[in-house]
Amino acid sequence: MDNETARKLAKRIIDEAAQLSAKDTLALLDSHVARNYSLLCHEPVLRAEGPWLYTKDRRIFDGVAAYSAANLGHGHPLVRETLKAFLDSHAPTVLGRFMPDPWLALFGRKVCEMTGFERFLPANGGVEGPEAAIKLARRWAHKQGKNKPEILYANRCFHGRTLTVTQMFDLEEHAARDGFGPWPEGFKRIAYNDLRAVKDALNQNTAAIIVEPIQGEGGINVPDEGYLRALIELGRAEKFLVIFDEVQTGWARTGEMFAWMHEGPEARPDILCIGKSVSGGYAPVGGILADQRLMQLFGPGSHGSTFGGCPISSCIAYAALTAIEAEGLVQQAQEKGEHVWQRLQEIAEQSPRIKEVRGKGMMFGIELTQDGPDGHHFSVELLKLGAILKDTHKWVLRFTPPIVATRQELDFVLELIEQVFTAKTADAH
Ligand SMILES: Cc1ncc(COP(=O)(O)O)c(C=O)c1O
Repeated sequence: MDNETARKLAKRIIDEAAQLSAKDTLALLDSHVARNYSLLCHEPVLRAEGPWLYTKDRRIFDGVAAYSAANLGHGHPLVRETLKAFLDSHAPTVLGRFMPDPWLALFGRKVCEMTGFERFLPANGGVEGPEAAIKLARRWAHKQGKNKPEILYANRCFHGRTLTVTQMFDLEEHAARDGFGPWPEGFKRIAYNDLRAVKDALNQNTAAIIVEPIQGEGGINVPDEGYLRALIELGRAEKFLVIFDEVQTGWARTGEMFAWMHEGPEARPDILCIGKSVSGGYAPVGGILADQRLMQLFGPGSHGSTFGGCPISSCIAYAALTAIEAEGLVQQAQEKGEHVWQRLQEIAEQSPRIKEVRGKGMMFGIELTQDGPDGHHFSVELLKLGAILKDTHKWVLRFTPPIVATRQELDFVLELIEQVFTAKTADAH
């Protein structure tokens, strides 16, 4: 196809999306797309910028930052400009990994520098991180003579939805587990934030433990200070690996570049899973990091995917990581997090419906008392007013706004939160 024809057709494609009515969008989604998600909002999002999502009639504050994929806000200009130039340069967007790619080289160096690990294994999106980490841990374990490697995981964890990983869902999460068995062998569940439970679960086949340094989907559960460091110490002493899944907590979300860093260098894991904001929300990018002593176990042919680390993903991620540094995102999360924390505590004091506010940096969970409407009710109320906060495990509302949101924008949402939690209706139900 020549460029002129492509330009005309592209315009038509863009116009088609822009002109699709809300009614038709919903009808097409309903008739052609698997219904594995239910809709909270019924207004199609046509545009997004910073913390804002624009529908035909209004703007909505994205209080979950697309599940922390948009820590940099939507459409960060540095990523957008880099991406435009990348496309104009006619660099290949995808390439067999048997060809050297400068973008993967640059992304690889940057992600290693920012995390402090020696090697990076690229992947597509979040769940491929835990999946690869478990494979690496098993391979390592076999080399140690642990012939039936066992992976420990925590209750209330969330690591994604492949078959291997989805089995780790809490039993309460019926929809996620129901009817998908039989499950892969070699996994054992233990209580989160309980070192004794880990010790009790150990045996000669324990290969690794996988944990989120703060549980996101599980309800913003923050472990006791020292838990992560103690896990690493135990792993060293008992010869098992520690995997931290920072797909959600990474890239400044909790007020450090990674949540384990709150506990100092001794809390550095053997394998780190990354995803979400590594691409600034522009593409599904993820992967794992480890030192060479472990990563060398992934030799040619042992693991990989067509798009993992492809040039366009690598270019996007390289730009996003540059933006995370240039924005001073860690410092922003610390400063703004402090302010949001104070305000949420004030709101909690005024509302009998809030049992507890917990979190770190810019990652907050508002736990409700169970004597009134649940989290979904408050999500719906907040959406009516112009903000998205999403419920999890029925009684916790997650608030993880884009870290670049200004103080004024955050105050706007905090006022809405105050409004729904102190309105008479919040108590009357
Ligand atoms: C801690 C954690 N790990 C893994 C995943 C899976 O990421 P994705 O949905 O991009 O596959 C998520 C998603 O929310 C997550 O929170």
